Amino acid sequence: MNIVIFGPPGAGKGTQSNFIAKKYNLHQLSTGELLRKEIKDKTNLGKQIESIINDGNLVSDDVVSDLIKKYISDNKYKNRLIFDGYPRNLVQVKNLDNLLKKYDQKINVVLKLSVSLKTIKFRISERKNLEQRTDDNEKIAIKRFETYEKNIEPVIEHYKQSNLLTVVNGENTITEISDKISDLIDSFKGWL
Ligand code: AP5
Ligand code: MG
Repeated sequence: MNIVIFGPPGAGKGTQSNFIAKKYNLHQLSTGELLRKEIKDKTNLGKQIESIINDGNLVSDDVVSDLIKKYISDNKYKNRLIFDGYPRNLVQVKNLDNLLKKYDQKINVVLKLSVSLKTIKFRISERKNLEQRTDDNEKIAIKRFETYEKNIEPVIEHYKQSNLLTVVNGENTITEISDKISDLIDSFKGWL
């Protein structure tokens, strides 16, 4: 089973992907984390993308497509991927569909976590002290939210039309959300 999970910054994509990955023995593929690792390792790519991420903008579609391709093309992860924070715009939706098709796979479940800007600000300010992400300050969190809003509508529309989209209320507690997602995956697994 391949799952897409998307939502604004602080919506709980990472938290829920981590939970699902453990419970269902899937692999969490977070484009944000892969990009941060490039920056931490001071690779050429890392140097190119650092200011883009710290400004709350999207890295180029080609860069993220190359990152996810490594996983989609690897048989070890075949039908075991959770796309955490990918796709974020219509070009990425198409790139993902093409790559999956090429490697004889598809998306089975798409989850959209919805949260308000007020909640985002609160969660990011809380996390700031724990994780020290350079893009975790209020100004950039708002910018990340705006970037999300600007690009996400066609993504939502695409997955609605493909009948894959489930909207989950990200304002609930972590456990409530995990339970809801588990129920959905369990009901779906019966059909696989
Ligand atoms: P990314 O790392 O994906 O950041 P993001 O989208 O801003 O999302 P976050 O990781 O901040 O939030 P999350 O939804 O994972 O929430 P979390 O579980 O941590 O991307 C970073 C950057 O990389 C982007 O801005 C862009 O520049 C670039 N990038 C990434 N993907 C890209 C792509 N596809 N294309 C182009 N560029 C890309 O939770 C947040 C906090 O809240 C945590 O402390 C958590 O413990 C807490 N929490 C979670 N759920 C709950 C809950 N239900 N109740 C209370 N607290 C909760
Ligand atoms: Mg995350």
